Amino acid sequence: MIYLMQSQNHKNVEKPKFISQKIYKFLLGFLLMGKKVLLIFGSSRSNGTTKFIVNELFKNREVEFIDLLEQDISYFDYEHANSNDDFLQIAEKMVGYQDLIFVTPVYWFSMSAVMKNFFDRLTDLLQIRKDLGRKLKDKNTYFIASGTDKKLPTGFQVPFVRTSKHFEMNFRGFFYHYVMEEKKFNENCREEARKFVELIYP
Ligand SMILES: Cc1cc2nc3c(=O)[nH]c(=O)nc-3n(C[C@H](O)[C@H](O)[C@H](O)COP(=O)(O)O)c2cc1C
Repeated sequence: MIYLMQSQNHKNVEKPKFISQKIYKFLLGFLLMGKKVLLIFGSSRSNGTTKFIVNELFKNREVEFIDLLEQDISYFDYEHANSNDDFLQIAEKMVGYQDLIFVTPVYWFSMSAVMKNFFDRLTDLLQIRKDLGRKLKDKNTYFIASGTDKKLPTGFQVPFVRTSKHFEMNFRGFFYHYVMEEKKFNENCREEARKFVELIYP
């Protein structure tokens, strides 16, 4: 069971011969329904539009949630004098999940400063905690973004895709919600939202 849940791609898990295809599919579906994902949330407000969208997306799912705004995470420090702040604890938590979803509003055509600060600190995992950095290998990554423009700015995906690649994680996709009204789900994005959730919970 643990293997199934931690498996990268459940389609590669071989069906044991002693159970029928039908029962196997049912069991697999059941296990993946309860699969836990980690949402790493980086908005400048804990209960704004981006949070509203996330709640809507995962309202029937069990997800773990870290609000970076509530954490003590200082800027990247070349001397690592900040190694006792909350960053490394979060990194330790990350390695326990197969699916990591970064959530950010679009602020000035880019990820939020709160999220960018977190991304800068990933450098610690290449320097003082290489053990943790190596454990990120083969995780699945995604991002969710919300902004008022109809489309994501050009290049917005780049840090998510390239950072994932750097740590040998698999970037699997994103969901962009464009906001028509604050704290209201834009129905024009409903189909994309459905596809995104299905990507995580096939
Ligand atoms: C500082 C700031 C900069 C923003 N820059 C952009 C932008 O470049 N493109 C965009 O589409 N929306 C932009 N927005 C709108 C937000 O992305 C949008 O309102 C988002 O849903 C806010 O989420 P929040 O409530 O979690 O902060 C900006 C908002 C703020 C406060």
